[in-house]
Amino acid sequence: MKILLTGGTGYIGSHAAVRLIELGYEVEILDNLNNSKIEVLDKIEKITGVRPTFHQVDLMDYKATQRVFSEGGFDLVIHFAGLKAVGESVEKPLLYYENNIGGTINLLKCMREFGVKKIIFSSSATVYGDTGETEFTEEMPTGVKIVNPYGKTKFMIEEILRDVATADGDLEVVILRYFNPIGAHESGLLGEDPNGIPNNLMPIVMRVSTGEIEELKIYGNDYDTVDGTGVRDYIHVMDLVDGHIAAIKKMQPGVAIYNLGTGRGTSVLEMVAAFEKVSGQKLPYKIVERREGDLGEVIANPDKAERELDWEAKRTVEDAMRDVLGYLKGN
Ligand code: NAD
Ligand code: UFG
Repeated sequence: MKILLTGGTGYIGSHAAVRLIELGYEVEILDNLNNSKIEVLDKIEKITGVRPTFHQVDLMDYKATQRVFSEGGFDLVIHFAGLKAVGESVEKPLLYYENNIGGTINLLKCMREFGVKKIIFSSSATVYGDTGETEFTEEMPTGVKIVNPYGKTKFMIEEILRDVATADGDLEVVILRYFNPIGAHESGLLGEDPNGIPNNLMPIVMRVSTGEIEELKIYGNDYDTVDGTGVRDYIHVMDLVDGHIAAIKKMQPGVAIYNLGTGRGTSVLEMVAAFEKVSGQKLPYKIVERREGDLGEVIANPDKAERELDWEAKRTVEDAMRDVLGYLKGN
């Protein structure tokens, strides 16, 4: 089976590339390197012994994307490519709508033109919006009070995929709603290495640990949670990748949606404690105001994926911290 990974040099895509290659899938990567580095290909090769064919292409460039498909012969596309910085999406909404939605439309047009019938899409827990719930099942309403353009692009792309699948009954679509991916590859070679200043908790914790950032700012301790700080469902990136592998095996015509999370919540203070335990290092932090748009508690109900995909997240937050520390040492 030949698979095109859009966004395949990015954080999640590169980890997926490694596992897919190890399992014998043929992998090609399309990425414009907007938020990743070409050196990732060396790392993938070092781990697997295989250097995937790479196309430095922007999905916004229809002709270039077409060329990739004309030579590709792909059986499946895993669509990781997208801009994902929540704050930036508020400042530059058109960039987000254009890149994420425009890019997906180009991709779907190429798939139609070249007869590619399977797609797995990287969606997000953010599509559930602010419903007042803390634990989410796939049947719950989506698109409710989504506060930022990034989240709205995920919701809109889900809608587009549904419409396209209605129009073409042969299309096999899997929408995976990621909760909070963290961690790194156990080799210490691959990890999360965003260009520029990170916005997510784990990369910030890591930069505090190396002294690049002075202290962690904890956004609020007055939420209705175990200790007042925000609670999230952190899932190890390799468990997340295994969820994709499980989904590939069960694909069928129509649209299937799965939450990929652990079903367990961890607060920011618990994350700090886990980091300190695993690293033996004190992590300086300060409680500050809530971050606009944040919810108190967001946890996956992963029962559907466990039941239908026969998949389950196995690694713990401490495993993820250990792997990220390994990655920091290796780089
Ligand atoms: P990432 O930024 O590391 O990877 C995304 C990749 O897509 C980058 O390498 C970037 O250069 C590329 N890209 C962006 N726009 C492109 C375009 N127009 N053409 C070609 N390449 C383009 O992000 P990630 O954490 O690996 O996330 C992968 C996917 O999962 C994204 O769609 C993201 O929205 C989604 N997701 C991520 C999280 C998370 O917390 N990491 C949570 C939920 C969903
Ligand atoms: N946090 C801090 N300080 C920081 C960064 C984060 O206290 O410097 C807290 C947040 O308030 C939140 C938790 O740590 O309680 C996690 O925050 P992240 O920014 O790491 O993650 P979010 O849950 O806010 O959002 C992430 C992705 C989104 C995605 C969402 C749901 O950034 O793209 O998960 O999947 F949509």
